[in-house]
Amino acid sequence: MYKGKQPPNHIAIIMDGNGRWAKERFLPRKAGHKKGVDAIKKAVYTAEEYGIKYITFYAFSTENWKRPKDEINSLFSLIEEFVNKFDKEFKGKEYRINIMGDLSKLPDDLVLSLNSICERTKAFDKLIINIGINYGGRDEIVHAVNKLIENNKTNISEKDIKDNLYINYLPDPDIILRTAGEKRLSNFLLWQCAYSELIFIDEYWPEFDKDLFDRVLDEYYLRNRRFGGLNA
Ligand code: FPP
Repeated sequence: MYKGKQPPNHIAIIMDGNGRWAKERFLPRKAGHKKGVDAIKKAVYTAEEYGIKYITFYAFSTENWKRPKDEINSLFSLIEEFVNKFDKEFKGKEYRINIMGDLSKLPDDLVLSLNSICERTKAFDKLIINIGINYGGRDEIVHAVNKLIENNKTNISEKDIKDNLYINYLPDPDIILRTAGEKRLSNFLLWQCAYSELIFIDEYWPEFDKDLFDRVLDEYYLRNRRFGGLNA
C-alpha cells in the first residue's frame, strides 16, 4: 500500500531513453537496454509491494523493426534471458506473465521461451506482468476486427472489440507512464488508453527506481478522474 491509498489497478509503461542513457556514458546502446532490464525488475517488485495488480511493459513495437539488426537481436536476447531466468529471479512470487503482440515474425527459439513462460505461470495472479513484443495498438485493433470477421460477426460492439484484443481480460491502464521526456503514445494501447492518466517524466528508463515510482504515484493521486462524468 502506498501512503495508505487505493493503488492503481494497472500501470503501463513506455520504457524510453535506454539509448540516450548509454550514449551519455559512452556505452553501446545495448548496455542501456541491459540496464533497462534491471529497471523492469525494480518496477515489478515495487508494483507488487504497493498492491498494483497489472503492470505492462512496451518492450518491442511493430515499428522497432526499423532499428539495426544488431540492436533488434540484442533486444530479443535480453527478452529471452529475462523469461528464461524468470523462475529463478521471481521464485515463489506467483507472478503471471502474458505476452501481447504478433509473435509470428519473432525467432522460433524466442517464441518457444515466451510460450513456455506464459504456460508455466498461467495459474498465478499475485501480479500480472504483460510484455508487448512486436506489439502495436493499431495492429491489435486490426487483429481483433479480423477475428470478428472470421467468426462472421456483424454489428460489432465495443465489447466485441475488447473481447478480441491480445489479452481480453486486461483492464484499461489507470496510468500510462513514459520516461525520457517524450510526450507521445507511440502506438501503445490505443484502445485501452481512453481514460488513462498520462504521466511523463524526464528521467531515462534505466534510472527508474522506487523513488521515481513514488513520484509517479504522487502525480497520479493529484489527478481528478471523472471518466467523462462530473465531480462526486
Ligand atoms: C526505448 O529506448 C526502449 C526500447 C525500445 C526497448 C525496451 C526494452 C528493454 C528495456 C529490454 C528488454 C525487455 C524485457 C521485457 C526484458 P530507446 O532505445 O528508444 O532509447 P533512446 O530513445 O534514448 O534511443
